Amino acid sequence: MVLSIPFEEFSSDQIEDFANNEYLIIDDFLPQDMAEKLLKELKFWRKKNKFKKGGIGKSLSHKVAEEVRRDEIKWIQKDSCLPHTAAYMEYLDKLSATLNRNFFLSLKDMEAMYAIYEKGAFYKTHRDRFHSQPHRVISVVLYLNPNWKPTHGGELVIHTEGTKKTGSISIEPVYNRLALFRSELLHEVIPCHKTRYSVTTWLKDQLNEVTFVAI
Ligand code: OGA
Ligand code: MN
Repeated sequence: MVLSIPFEEFSSDQIEDFANNEYLIIDDFLPQDMAEKLLKELKFWRKKNKFKKGGIGKSLSHKVAEEVRRDEIKWIQKDSCLPHTAAYMEYLDKLSATLNRNFFLSLKDMEAMYAIYEKGAFYKTHRDRFHSQPHRVISVVLYLNPNWKPTHGGELVIHTEGTKKTGSISIEPVYNRLALFRSELLHEVIPCHKTRYSVTTWLKDQLNEVTFVAI
């Protein structure tokens, strides 16, 4: 049986929010059982030791990367992933179409990964869209941390300098919360004091195969 998640269009408030702030937070994003199963699929791969240290580009040494980023990741292959992850990817395809319609974007493809931040891990201030990744337009992070408390740290901090509302916003990685933001915004993950699970996706304005052929 092919799983699917009932799709909900953005509300007019959410559209206005994203238009004004360049980020949007949606709580209780997936049906409860879908979020649970997604976390189980992430943990399935962790048990199989499929997570690798996240990198920050080929030209920089691993040592440098560790100063910047301490998460562990596993890429998601859209056409051969576990069933609940596949349903989530399909949902994000529909969400891309909605974003295209409402914000005149031309999102065509996505890159996705599971991420684990072990205790003490962080990701220093960076952008997801930059010279070697110019096709990442929207970053989408789904947090899968049951019983996350403020004392556990691990907030995503988005710096909104240069947008209509200048400042910083701090987002706790609570269970089943979706954070969506323009990939060119500066952001960071504050050190966490408990293992932190998420699925990160980048919605892109170019097909992955084009990127891979071109470089
Ligand atoms: C990233 C990232 C944010 C988060 O993986 O590039 O910024 O809150 N993640 O996990
Ligand atoms: Mn990022």
